[in-house]
Amino acid sequence: MKLSFLFPLLFLVPFLASCADKKQVYIVYFGEHKGDKALHEIEEHHHSYLQSVKESEEDARSSLLYSYKHSINGFAAVLTPDEASKLEKLEEVVSVFESHPRKYETHTTRSWEFVGLEEEETDGDDRRHKHDVDDRFRVGRNFLNKAKHGDGIIVGLVDNGVWPESRSFSDKGMGPIPKSWKGICQTGVAFNSSHCNRKIIGARYYVKGYESYYGPFNATANRDFLSPRDPAGHGSHTASTAVGRRVNGVSALGGFAMGSASGGAPLARLAIYKACWIKPNAEKTDINACAEVDMLAAIDDAIADGVHVISISIGMTDPLVPFSKDGIAIGALHAMRRNIVVAASAGNYGPKPGTLSNTAPWIITVGASTLDRAFVGGLVLGNGYTLKTESITAIKIDKFAPLVYAANVVVPGIVALNNSAQCLPNSLRPELVNGKVVLCLRGAGSRIGKGIEVKRAGGVGMILGNTPAIGNDTVPDPHFVATVAVPPTVVEKILDYIKTDKNPIAFIKPGKTVYKNQPAPSMTGFSSRGPSMVDPNILKPDITAPGLNILAAWSGADSPSKMSIDKRVADYNFETGTSMSCPHVAGAIALLKAIHPKWSSAAIRSALMTTAWMTNDEKKPIQDTNGLPANPFAFGSGHFRPTKAADPGLVYDASYRDYLLYSCSVGFTGIDQTFICPTKIPPGYNLNYPSVSIPNLNKTVTVKRTVTNVGDGNSTSTYVFSAKAPLGVSVKAKPSVLTFNRIGEKKRFKIVVTAGKDKMLNATEKGQYQFGWFSWADGYHVVRSPIAVSLA
Ligand SMILES: *[C@@H]1O[C@H](CO)[C@@H](O)[C@H](O)[C@H]1NC(C)=O
Ligand SMILES: *[C@@H]1O[C@H](CO)[C@@H](O)[C@H](O)[C@H]1NC(C)=O
Ligand SMILES: *[C@@H]1O[C@H](CO)[C@@H](O)[C@H](O)[C@H]1NC(C)=O
Ligand SMILES: *[C@@H]1O[C@H](CO)[C@@H](O)[C@H](O)[C@H]1NC(C)=O
Ligand SMILES: *[C@@H]1O[C@H](CO)[C@@H](O)[C@H](O)[C@H]1NC(C)=O
Ligand SMILES: *[C@@H]1O[C@H](CO)[C@@H](O)[C@H](O)[C@H]1NC(C)=O
Ligand SMILES: *[C@@H]1O[C@H](CO)[C@@H](O)[C@H](O)[C@H]1NC(C)=O
Repeated sequence: MKLSFLFPLLFLVPFLASCADKKQVYIVYFGEHKGDKALHEIEEHHHSYLQSVKESEEDARSSLLYSYKHSINGFAAVLTPDEASKLEKLEEVVSVFESHPRKYETHTTRSWEFVGLEEEETDGDDRRHKHDVDDRFRVGRNFLNKAKHGDGIIVGLVDNGVWPESRSFSDKGMGPIPKSWKGICQTGVAFNSSHCNRKIIGARYYVKGYESYYGPFNATANRDFLSPRDPAGHGSHTASTAVGRRVNGVSALGGFAMGSASGGAPLARLAIYKACWIKPNAEKTDINACAEVDMLAAIDDAIADGVHVISISIGMTDPLVPFSKDGIAIGALHAMRRNIVVAASAGNYGPKPGTLSNTAPWIITVGASTLDRAFVGGLVLGNGYTLKTESITAIKIDKFAPLVYAANVVVPGIVALNNSAQCLPNSLRPELVNGKVVLCLRGAGSRIGKGIEVKRAGGVGMILGNTPAIGNDTVPDPHFVATVAVPPTVVEKILDYIKTDKNPIAFIKPGKTVYKNQPAPSMTGFSSRGPSMVDPNILKPDITAPGLNILAAWSGADSPSKMSIDKRVADYNFETGTSMSCPHVAGAIALLKAIHPKWSSAAIRSALMTTAWMTNDEKKPIQDTNGLPANPFAFGSGHFRPTKAADPGLVYDASYRDYLLYSCSVGFTGIDQTFICPTKIPPGYNLNYPSVSIPNLNKTVTVKRTVTNVGDGNSTSTYVFSAKAPLGVSVKAKPSVLTFNRIGEKKRFKIVVTAGKDKMLNATEKGQYQFGWFSWADGYHVVRSPIAVSLA
């Protein structure tokens, strides 16, 4: 088993499961509850199933981890593969699957203002940056007021807990807890009943699944709290991004991004569901573990507690898991049935195609893009080469220093290894590094750790270079020496310079916070891309929101770099990932819920999607990380625009039964006993979704859609169809004009997508997805949907 140390545990789990008698944690899922059963009856029912495959009643009792009995019907238990397959064959059982530990999608002052939601001018460092008093600003204020800043709405965060002392979670001036709330404040280590308040109205934690993987919880080894308290920052960051209070004078270490921080819905209430834990003896930078059985228990409770929105910044590495065996998809399905809107992160595995997680159509899948805020520092080489780049390192050097490449200054022995330029601990020779700037490469070790090594060896600065394998995304971190992060092309330039100049020198310019940096928004390279590998008939992701260098609340138990060697503390910290973009959308959903309490989960998603931006602030197409226009497999319908989403004109609504019918098309059946799949199952692309995806188009496909008028007023409105067809196909609507006479009126239409003559496409283009859009416009509203088509 020595080999296992080479691999993260994530990959080890399936391997263990292949040993026939190895016990594993499984989820046994029954779909909906039948009839009205008391909670203890449901548990007994689950028990009888478990007992039918176990030797003794005692065995059955001790192997049961959770009985999901509120909305989700199922249980989690320790089973052998043999027992699991026996259960799977039983009638009533929808699916049986192993629970895998998932991980966060991690890799604010500015972000809400950027989408037109900021209420006041920020102060401090960015006072110079006067926002144009434009419509975006005014609409933002009206919109926030109309939504009462989210008051009355409860947002549930499934994450790793909360740091309740953060100013972002103060309940000062907030009204009483909504009467509809049924949750609890579960106390534990360093978390008592006073840590809940009118802002954090509920908190719970789930650890049984985690313990079944990593053994009994051990506070020393885990460096975690057996309570809803956040030991690492992630949960506090996501929670404050969605619903944090407005806090003035906030900045990251070093004074970057100074301003006021606010969540999207600053008066919405927060319900904490801690289902993620630090792995034993791991760094806080490491992959954290969120067991699927714990997450499902969290979602089941959140539904019963009465949350209105659930935000899940957790994904998985395998993009192929079907919805019937995906704990988040199952939990979200039951939440959607109760009109709870679920937003989840798209994942951080881009820019490779087909890397998405959380692709179920009843989830809002959120990608990550950039803000117009940048922390511009730079690099100047002795030969005159100048580069502007992002830096959030507060440590400054004020002059040129000699420049060396790490591989040329390592202790003998390391030279032979490929890690020679990695600046790993104790790899650099102080006599060759002292007073110099060192070019280190990424790949092994942590980014911050490399700066620490440069500092240890007496270096004054670091150039942190990406290898081609890492790609173009650079991450500004709070380093310990003056640092710039550079892409592979710049690494090449620097290496050339070092090779050709006898006395190479470099100057690292400290970073300064800059606003209105263009082009913005742009897609980040890490944001996972479509198509959905589970079902390419649904276009995913749905939307994009800010996810790069987001400043939000942090845990007092963690350093800004998340490394134990770093003893600094920060109330607010930068984080990057689709983990950060997802709670932006959750905050926007809370505001929309406050304005339109009766709207379904599908209507809210539709409003967000059809009003999203496909262009950037310069009215040009949103760019991708390679500088070319990005497509809907990166941004879905575009960048969210909450102020517009309140008044979308028309929505593509979908009911629970619509989703059940859709589920037949992907073989996810038996969820509800009152629903039987028809013998002729409609194709998945006929789900009433606000976007269209048609894989392998042969000749002609007719897509069905229904729109509901949610526009203001009683007067007649007439919507006219227009489209920009993807390359090689034509797109027509029947009818192409829709007239509405009242609010709530529904109209059906068909979209006919026809492949053009073969000549129109050459061999490369055939089989590749092409993108376009169609829209309905009434002169005021534009209801736009992206289309993705690949030709067979
Ligand atoms: C909870 O703990 C805090 C210290 O963190 C303490 O000040 C407070 O009195 C405690 N509240 C209760 C109800 O025990
Ligand atoms: C908890 O972890 C610490 C550090 O790894 C270890 O020394 C200790 O023995 C553990 N305690 C238990 C009860 O396992
Ligand atoms: C070392 O790096 C070279 C070039 O980047 C690569 O081709 C080779 O596979 C690497 N070797 C190891 C052991 O990683
Ligand atoms: C990285 O940027 C370079 C130069 O802008 C571009 O040529 C290359 O395609 C980009 N790479 C990726 C993976 O986007
Ligand atoms: C096109 O034809 C192929 C092969 O017959 C089939 O698998 C595929 O589903 C068809 N595509 C559509 C969109 O109907
Ligand atoms: C719509 O008509 C009804 C009945 O005539 C009226 O009560 C209502 O105020 C009207 N609404 C708007 C927005 O004009
Ligand atoms: C086929 O299309 C691709 C993409 O548009 C283009 O780069 C390529 O040059 C085309 N090839 C031919 C033979 O026309």
